[in-house]
Amino acid sequence: MPSHRTMQAIVLDTFGGPQVLRLCETPRPAPGAGEVLVRHTAIGVNFHDCYVRSGLYRTLPLPGIPGIEATGVVEALGSGVAGLAVGQRVGWVSGRYGGYATHRVMPAAEAIRLPDSLDDADLAATLMKALTVSVLVSRAHVVQPGQTVLVHAAAGGVGQLLCNWCRHLGATVIGTVGTRAKAAVAEAAGAHHIILYREEDFVARVQQITGGAGVAAVYDAVGKDTFAGSLASLAFEGTLVNYGQASGPVAALTPADLAVRSLTLVRPIVFHYLRDADRLADLSSRVFDAFAAGVIRPIAPLRLPLAEAAAAHEVLESQRSPGGVVLLP
Ligand SMILES: NC(=O)c1ccc[n+]([C@@H]2O[C@H](COP(=O)([O-])OP(=O)(O)OC[C@H]3O[C@@H](n4cnc5c(N)ncnc54)[C@H](OP(=O)(O)O)[C@@H]3O)[C@@H](O)[C@H]2O)c1
Repeated sequence: MPSHRTMQAIVLDTFGGPQVLRLCETPRPAPGAGEVLVRHTAIGVNFHDCYVRSGLYRTLPLPGIPGIEATGVVEALGSGVAGLAVGQRVGWVSGRYGGYATHRVMPAAEAIRLPDSLDDADLAATLMKALTVSVLVSRAHVVQPGQTVLVHAAAGGVGQLLCNWCRHLGATVIGTVGTRAKAAVAEAAGAHHIILYREEDFVARVQQITGGAGVAAVYDAVGKDTFAGSLASLAFEGTLVNYGQASGPVAALTPADLAVRSLTLVRPIVFHYLRDADRLADLSSRVFDAFAAGVIRPIAPLRLPLAEAAAAHEVLESQRSPGGVVLLP
């Protein structure tokens, strides 16, 4: 057990497979001016963490503690912090990393107060995804009633929330999934049409479902395996929202590839939309309102001990995630 001077953390000191994620005892930082010390209660595991661990993203200086979201309790306040109290329940989503640990110090301005109605582990599994989906449906592409949208990996964590939210906004949702079991999950999340994209030609099915018109938007975080088909599935003036690359990075393209039907390509990263306190407050209140109104439902995650971070990454990378995975300190 860590003493009050130390904490347990997964410290990444080299890029590689899941086995590079090892638990260590490390000094526990003290909060400076404007900062708080948070004791984590649940830590969200995301694909971003896999990209950081593998070295695809070189955004965490090594050695470093990965992890971009968690829930917890404020344990100490630095000087000048107002509006937060010791013992207060908070969550955070940030590209400053530091999630895979029993504790972390963070700017007080990045702490999000959590509604009592939502469980810590469910929130740690869902908050970053829900903020992302809020961006995807209202900024990257504004979903309008009557539009048809294509959501790839519709039974994934982000995929389920996208189906929830797009359907609520009045869109017809076509969801692609890898297995028949996932088809039921995507349907329960709100997809009107399901395509088993490993068995069927999804471009042909989209054309069939839309009467040859194509879709107004495609939400694609599968990347390499689906990108070309996603472009081909768009209607005139359609928007391809490429927000990830679970199957691998997307090949280069040129503006002429978009000129075929006056298409738009957007490549959003959620942190850019959370870059200051006002934006964070605005997006998080939209997300909590959406939870409260039942527009989106929190995802019940797979729960693993912090020491099993490697197993958590294996679950994500082998497409076995129920839509959310959390580490419990
Ligand atoms: N841009 C942003 O700011 C942002 C924010 C959050 C998440 N994301 C991205 O959103 C994506 C989904 O995240 P998530 O948390 O929803 O993950 P998830 O629940 O694990 O869903 C990912 C799904 O992608 C599909 N997939 C297809 N090929 C895959 C492959 N080779 N390896 C793994 N999965 C593959 C699988 O569904 P099937 O079995 O149905 O094919 C898998 O279940 C990730 O790419 C992530 O990086 C981006």
